[in-house]
Amino acid sequence: MTATVITGIAELVTCDDSTDDRLGIRTDAAVVVQDGRVAWIGPDAQAPSADRRIDVDGRALVPGFVDSHSHLVFAGDRSAEFAARMTGQPYDGGGIAETVSATRAASDEQLRALIAHRVAEMRAQGTTTVEIKSGYGLSVADEVRALRLAAEVTTETTFLGAHVVPPEWRHRRADYVDLVSGEMLGAAVPYARWIDVFCEPGSPYAFDADEARTVLEAGRAAGLGLRVHGNQLGPGPGPGVQLAVQLGAASVDHCTHLTDGDVDALAGSGTVATLLPGVEFCTRSPFPDAARLLAAGVSVALATDCNPGTCYSSSMPLMIALAVREMGLTPAQALYAATAGSARSLGRDDIGRIVVGGPADLAVVDAPSHLHLAYRPGVPLAAALAV
Ligand code: NIG
Ligand code: FE
Repeated sequence: MTATVITGIAELVTCDDSTDDRLGIRTDAAVVVQDGRVAWIGPDAQAPSADRRIDVDGRALVPGFVDSHSHLVFAGDRSAEFAARMTGQPYDGGGIAETVSATRAASDEQLRALIAHRVAEMRAQGTTTVEIKSGYGLSVADEVRALRLAAEVTTETTFLGAHVVPPEWRHRRADYVDLVSGEMLGAAVPYARWIDVFCEPGSPYAFDADEARTVLEAGRAAGLGLRVHGNQLGPGPGPGVQLAVQLGAASVDHCTHLTDGDVDALAGSGTVATLLPGVEFCTRSPFPDAARLLAAGVSVALATDCNPGTCYSSSMPLMIALAVREMGLTPAQALYAATAGSARSLGRDDIGRIVVGGPADLAVVDAPSHLHLAYRPGVPLAAALAV
């Protein structure tokens, strides 16, 4: 296998947490990649010769983004729902059923092509790891199919049979919860690493705290790691955060509406708060205060939630820009949350950093520093580097 030396790096962001801003920035460094791994990092002037040289010519090199929350397995189009929301319709999860119908009707080949297109779109914007959830099948066969197709492109697959109660089960909620935590879970397990639940109180679609607990405990017993969609929809008490912390979930995602008690619970836990600023942006919801979470000692991650309902964006740089502009993070904190922070939410310390021995998951930013990711919103500066 050939070795490649990357030179001309204006700023190398390693995400070495021992530095003050946790970004571990080096301004003199070159990187050698061999067999898909980082083999050497050192002063540019001492870079060894290699079979191949990539000169990034004064650009920044950052860890590839880790998009730890997405729903890429879907067919259909809900742009009209988005347009209606922009004229004042609230989001309540009711549109998910439309995507379920379209997804069930699509062939494996159609879904595979849609997933491949979305993953390529992410990579072209600097994402090198993506977590993908099921959740638009909601029958045993359709959930298994979604996970099987997701597993073709990522190891970070999440069983979300408890996305909503599908229309055909709406009057038999308890039976659907039994199905998800029994037969459907058993069929999904070979293809899934995680289990997730959309937990919101009083929703005809999502699952209340007791239902969510039943599903999550079954998932844990089956060997899956736990994730929760929580505290998204309303300012009232949202049990998702408390449940995630009690069950030791790796991550609770959304966290749009948090009480002081929720922040305290997160701060005393190993559960990461995964923030999805594209959702607040695209649903006209209030942005949570990420700076308050960090000040309390909570681990924070950023992800896109790329899905057809609440945020059809695949752009991690956009999430960084929104987190800086709307959630109170510094550019350094936002970049850390989108790389090492989101890796942590997946229980991973091998990705989201640039370290010798780690995978060569690298993104190049067409600017001299990472600051431009937030400074130039909407400009496609970042791209995964093919080494
Ligand atoms: O993460 N909140 C639940 N699920 C998705 C939205 C799914 C949809 O509307 O299609 C989310 O926001
Ligand atoms: Fe989601």
